[in-house]
Amino acid sequence: MSKSPLTLSVLDTFNPKATKNPPHLVLFADKDGKILGNLDGEHISRANALIKASAFKGTLGSTVSDHALDSGYPLTVVGVGALDKLANNIKKLGKPTYAAIKSAKKAVILWGDTICQKHFGQFVLSLLGASYHFGYQSEKPNKDTISQITFINNQADNDYAQVLELTQATFVGQSLARTLANEAPNICTPSHVAKIAKQLGKDHADSVNVQVLGEKEMQKLGMGCFLAVSKGSEQEGQLVVIEYFGKSNKKKGKLKNPIALVGKGITFDTGGISLKPAAGMDEMKFDMGGAAGMLGTIKAACEAKLPLDIVVVLACAENMPSGRATRPGDVAVAMNGMSVEILNTDAEGRLVLCDALCYTQDTYTPRTIIDAATLTGACVIALGSVRSGLYTNDEDTLFALQQASETSGDLVWQMPLDDDYDAQLKSPIADVQNIGGREAGSVTAACFLKRFIKDNQAWAHLDIAGTAWQSGENKGATGRPVPLLMSYLYSQI
Ligand code: BES
Ligand code: MN
Ligand code: ZN
Repeated sequence: MSKSPLTLSVLDTFNPKATKNPPHLVLFADKDGKILGNLDGEHISRANALIKASAFKGTLGSTVSDHALDSGYPLTVVGVGALDKLANNIKKLGKPTYAAIKSAKKAVILWGDTICQKHFGQFVLSLLGASYHFGYQSEKPNKDTISQITFINNQADNDYAQVLELTQATFVGQSLARTLANEAPNICTPSHVAKIAKQLGKDHADSVNVQVLGEKEMQKLGMGCFLAVSKGSEQEGQLVVIEYFGKSNKKKGKLKNPIALVGKGITFDTGGISLKPAAGMDEMKFDMGGAAGMLGTIKAACEAKLPLDIVVVLACAENMPSGRATRPGDVAVAMNGMSVEILNTDAEGRLVLCDALCYTQDTYTPRTIIDAATLTGACVIALGSVRSGLYTNDEDTLFALQQASETSGDLVWQMPLDDDYDAQLKSPIADVQNIGGREAGSVTAACFLKRFIKDNQAWAHLDIAGTAWQSGENKGATGRPVPLLMSYLYSQI
């Protein structure tokens, strides 16, 4: 995984005439066509003249450009729409801005003083995100595109350079997450995820340790629920464990109460014997979006050299129907001894996760566990693709994740965990069953996971079924919740 091909930097002033090859200049205007920020100079009058001479209104994401090189330098004005909605819309500006400047070699972006540090980070991430490409098309996209962007910060009290560094690290991690989740399921198998994790270990050998448990080892540990999912597939299930020593010394070999990140890594979810309908089943290659997000987050943490101890556990398996697959009605026993009646083999995410959660708690006594999973279609119905479902038993983690949600714009919404929902999971023959009824499917899935969390263990669960990818014309992985978790981790330093 390479670094961003774009070099980004921050300066306090800009004089286009001082440079030999003037860059493409970008300014922003609100819905009344007023240029944002406390800016003056010749380029402002040029931008105003350009707006006047065009049909440009400053609507969100609209652009107007003047490429006339005789006037010195190319210039683009990007519309931001209504200023009072700018906070919510900032992530939508990256794509049109990138489209307007990508054929230039260099660009300079003039923020003025209207946009705060928090929004600056969100804008830069969306701008970098617009440069991301994944695909097997034999015709390669034009490589001759922009390579250098400078941001002008005339607001002395904001540390834009530091935000830029963190955002670039986040972008690298987010791109890794997107690429893994976009990858075809014949290539992105559990062993492929393990291989990418081992590569990360090599790239950051001074701070990262990677260990992979196969099915035999999981058998020995008693991870009957994980194996109930992986046994139907020809692909061996893999529990990938990544230790990041950002604070403790790796040579001493032990993480001190790390933050634990656990990811659902179903590399393809057919539903198993409870087979899914054919239409749209291809999208179930994204069912390892949780694992991809956690791997991307730890990559970003490595790039940013965050001074924290973190352990990442990825529960990777393929959910297939076969002669060896689990039947509806089978009973499996998890690592902590809890027996589970598997009534629907399509509720497999919670089965691989419950053993991963037991393993994580037993091995690391983490200060907090956060898991991310494309867990339920019900969460997509409840929250759509705007916010991830957030379930937690801990107030500090709740507060920190809500703050991170606002800072990063990678939004979450708190969902309930009442015992009255949990009641749906009562089994007549085992400690718990793996599905509830028709009601509140995302909540009962979270309640199932909660049963495997020890007393006094701080834990949060993110149901990212609706947010890890987007459907439709531009379908593909979003790399969420990498921005959320990077922002969270930064707050935990
Ligand atoms: N991976 C799916 C959840 C999912 C559905 C993610 C749609 C993204 C989009 C999960 O394994 C699943 O199949 N869940 C079932 C649970 C049900 C059987 C209780 C579901 O949501 O239908
Ligand atoms: Mn499923
Ligand atoms: Zn699934």
